[in-house]
Amino acid sequence: MISYLLLSIPTAVKMNGFACLPSFTASDFFFGGLAKPGLTNNSLGSVVTPANVMQIPGLNTLGVSMARIDFAPGGLNPPHTHPRASEILFLLSGQLDVGFITTANVLVTMTICEGQIFTFPKGLVHFQQNNGNVPAVAISGLNSQNPGVQVIAKSLFAATPPVSDNVLARAFQIDTQEVDEIKSKLAA
Ligand SMILES: *[C@@H]1O[C@H](CO)[C@@H](O)[C@H](O)[C@H]1NC(C)=O
Repeated sequence: MISYLLLSIPTAVKMNGFACLPSFTASDFFFGGLAKPGLTNNSLGSVVTPANVMQIPGLNTLGVSMARIDFAPGGLNPPHTHPRASEILFLLSGQLDVGFITTANVLVTMTICEGQIFTFPKGLVHFQQNNGNVPAVAISGLNSQNPGVQVIAKSLFAATPPVSDNVLARAFQIDTQEVDEIKSKLAA
């Protein structure tokens, strides 16, 4: 039975949708992409550079990943969730207002400074904003090789196909014209 199973394993075995590496080199466990600042000249003034199983094939099944987050002064990493990971953020430089919202709808928030850590529990909506007048840089650890991310504003107002105006107008207690304005801004 065991030999039958071994023989029947196809060559490109996958686990969690990613290849189990039948052979590998050191580069499958390496990523240099967090060495340099990401570009923050976008509408939010922040950028997340991930270092997960998409960038590092050797992370598959290991249950860890990282990300670098760069913030311009005033920059915002907007409210989002990671469906598969808690996050522990270490602030390398600058100052951030951080927060998450519990399932009881309580905002848990504070200001953190260089060298300090804040934690975002798995699945909860959270955000970080640079409240200083110099750039800020953070490194996050996440307990999944593939944490996933859902950015709340984009999920609701920039989905494909779009969520209907009626759903959003009723949910946010605004009119459909206001819904369309938000949709057009987020589509840009
Ligand atoms: C952001 O800055 C980079 C490098 O300075 C530049 O190449 C890019 O066009 C800029 N992007 C925007 C959206 O301004």
